[in-house]
Amino acid sequence: MLVTSNTEKKTPLKSLDTLFIKTYGCAMNVYDSSRMSDLMQEAYGLRVVDDPKDADVILMNTCSIREKAEDKVYSELGRYKKIKDKRPDLIIGVGGCVGQQEGDRIQKRAPYVDIVFGPQTYHRLPEMVKTIRRDRVRVTEIDMPEIEKFDHLPKPKVEGLTGYVTIMEGCDKFCTFCIVPYTRGAEISRPVADILVECEQLIAAGAKDISLLGQNVNGYRGTGPDGEECGFAALLHLVGELEGMQRLRFSTSHPMEMNTELCEAFAEIPSLMPYLHLPVQSGSDVILKAMHRGHKREDYFKAIDELRLHTPEIALSSDFIVGFPGETDEDFAATLDLVRRVRFDSAFCFKYSPRPGTPASKAEDNVPEMIKDERLQALLELLREQSREGMAQQVGKSTEVLIESKGKNEGDLQGRTPDFRIVHFKGNPRLIGQTLPVKIVDAYAMSLRGELILAQ
Ligand code: SAH
Ligand code: SF4
Ligand code: F3S
Repeated sequence: MLVTSNTEKKTPLKSLDTLFIKTYGCAMNVYDSSRMSDLMQEAYGLRVVDDPKDADVILMNTCSIREKAEDKVYSELGRYKKIKDKRPDLIIGVGGCVGQQEGDRIQKRAPYVDIVFGPQTYHRLPEMVKTIRRDRVRVTEIDMPEIEKFDHLPKPKVEGLTGYVTIMEGCDKFCTFCIVPYTRGAEISRPVADILVECEQLIAAGAKDISLLGQNVNGYRGTGPDGEECGFAALLHLVGELEGMQRLRFSTSHPMEMNTELCEAFAEIPSLMPYLHLPVQSGSDVILKAMHRGHKREDYFKAIDELRLHTPEIALSSDFIVGFPGETDEDFAATLDLVRRVRFDSAFCFKYSPRPGTPASKAEDNVPEMIKDERLQALLELLREQSREGMAQQVGKSTEVLIESKGKNEGDLQGRTPDFRIVHFKGNPRLIGQTLPVKIVDAYAMSLRGELILAQ
């Protein structure tokens, strides 16, 4: 812990009652934020509020995956400073990947920030808060103490019907464009027994849809119950067969870590939902190599073919980067070709942006902005078309829908199909929490319309 003195005006301390957390970035951050709020509730009895103006503690859980991440953090911090000017006891903390990356530079630029912490140190938040209140100091805590964090977190809570379990942390893949290996540290898998316990707790607390999280979940290599190494497919079998496990998902996967056991798992484990997010980034072998992705386009096709052989209806999504340094028209055409061949149900597309300290940032960012924009639009258009067709193909089908909440329109309920599509239909709110058959009658860009199939 790096501690620096705080020479600002010292007023008598008010008790801590309320917490506001602002979350950016991926599902791992969403998971971390909910654990942070659990921790602070347990340690200080803090109540979570929706407006930073009402908070005694403000935490930002930040993301640095793409450009301007730091600028966004500083501009948001500017808003919090105004609140702190009026209430000097307000505690402001910056955590997550920008916290890790920037460290005490944050407090040099924004001296009113009390705590800087990283994704691996947030379990120490209660202690940090105690230190800054007792000694009136500032704290930076960004070391990477392996997996100790998980031993210090309270039991997970369930929000709605969904639960999340981080099964591995960090990344060793070092794609040349990516900041994650530097902010999240080395790949570390949690032991199988810990994951099973956490899943059981979530099930007992009412979770009906559980996602296993990690930067590369399918690279999971944890210690099994027998002390031997356990791979991801074997873990899925163990988790998927837990009593009361209704729906199991996972995210994110790496093409390099796909194997036959995993392709077969979708067909073998009834609770494993037919949906896979498998980022490919580019369809050009030249670019894949420059990105250090560790596989070729043919490997991607092979994995998809094998998945569809066992689970023909599996929904697929992916991530793409356009305008990577050196990407030619031909490279981009190869990406469009890959998309046409695979056919995706959804995808995230990004323009390449250099991240500080990554190998790719040393090459010239030489695809002009205008070309990046054109490629992004062309790719989005193709993917939108595929997504529309995928939605239209659902019409007429009957599918099991987990009913999650009321819909926006009066009398509507909202739920999810096994392949993660949103469905709206008329029904009694008492049905929320149940999984019932629904007939799909209409399709829109982002959701489906259905009718409950009532028992005769
Ligand atoms: N671990 C996951 C992805 C994590 S980051 C995987 O390997 O698939 C989420 C996505 O952000 C990436 O898939 C990539 O498409 C995008 N991304 C990461 N770094 C980027 C950068 N420097 N510029 C643009 N997009 C980036
Ligand atoms: Fe980043 Fe690549 Fe690791 Fe994904 S696999 S987190 S893109 S370095
Ligand atoms: Fe962002 Fe860190 Fe997640 S950089 S995408 S919050 S791992």
